[in-house]
Amino acid sequence: MIKEGKAVLDVKTEKIVSKKMDVFYNPVMKFNRDISVLLLNCIDKRNLQIGLPLAGSGIRGVRFLLELRKGKIKSIRFNDYDKKAVNSIKKNLKLNKIKLNKKIIVENKDANLFLLESHGFDYIDIDPFGSPNPYLDSSVRRISREGILAVTATDTAALTGTYIKTCLRKYWAVPLKNELMHEIGLRILIRKIQLIGAQYEKALIPIFSYFKDHYFRVFFRCEKGRKKADSVLEQHGMFDNAGPLWLGGLWDKRLVNLMEKKNDIEENKKILRIIKEESRIDVVGFYDITKLAKKYKIKVLPKQDELIAKIKKKGFKASPTHFRENSVRSDVKEKEFVGLVKVMG
Ligand SMILES: C[S@@+](CC[C@H](N)C(=O)[O-])C[C@H]1O[C@@H](n2cnc3c(N)ncnc32)[C@H](O)[C@@H]1O
Repeated sequence: MIKEGKAVLDVKTEKIVSKKMDVFYNPVMKFNRDISVLLLNCIDKRNLQIGLPLAGSGIRGVRFLLELRKGKIKSIRFNDYDKKAVNSIKKNLKLNKIKLNKKIIVENKDANLFLLESHGFDYIDIDPFGSPNPYLDSSVRRISREGILAVTATDTAALTGTYIKTCLRKYWAVPLKNELMHEIGLRILIRKIQLIGAQYEKALIPIFSYFKDHYFRVFFRCEKGRKKADSVLEQHGMFDNAGPLWLGGLWDKRLVNLMEKKNDIEENKKILRIIKEESRIDVVGFYDITKLAKKYKIKVLPKQDELIAKIKKKGFKASPTHFRENSVRSDVKEKEFVGLVKVMG
């Protein structure tokens, strides 16, 4: 028996988590699920019709049923093509004293069929093994106006520049292999999903995005209309030699503030605080202090927090970034940043 959030779960845990497991449960993804619960509790939408096409053990949906505020859920449909997973979802619902009814449904279909045969959802969570590509078209088609589409991608090697040709084939963009690779990879993933949205005149606006452990995660709000879709495409472009990628914001600032305030899970506080700070700075990329010091042959380095304070004193914005240790997101130009590193070191 495992406890996660308010849910109890009957799953076999294994030392090495892999898709060969009987029913897939990955404890490392607790943060991923914590954030989904927190985000849905912080948006001002109620009566959500929730679709979980790749539900696995059902833990995410069980947690939604136990942890989302009253009135948030209108209906919830779990789905997995694996019979064992479906049995596990049913068992775990029972274990948490949740009864199946017209609003809580478990299905056993291919994820695309499940999505396309539905009437649409206000929240869809794509949580696959590897790339979300096989499910993008159907989930984008079935996400409602103002709905939230959540996407996880664990194929980080392609998106972070280890396999350039794979990234070109799968994500239609050139990745980077340096200190910025995680932010660039996330932005490449976002653009790819937005392109699928644009085909259906849907503007997919990122409201909360991050990279952690071994995966990328992004939540989009779906807006409808040709002009809105066009304005998303206008924010695609190159960064250095990477891209095309999404050059717009990665977060809805108000939502991030609220999420940071409402979060009561101790171990998630730090990353939420950092994301809140960096969400206020509308720039692509950040400075890795150690990398820059090497480039400019600076021997003694200032402390990250002191450097941030100094940049702010000069009238610029500055914060740490969750993408990388000892790095600073800031709207100050590189030359001036390096100058400060030099005088403070
Ligand atoms: C990463 S796991 C999902 C984990 C789950 N969402 C959670 O939060 O614990 C992916 C799941 O997708 C299922 N799956 C893979 N391909 C599928 C497909 N084409 N249609 C439906 N389910 C599929 C697998 O059986 C597996 O349970």
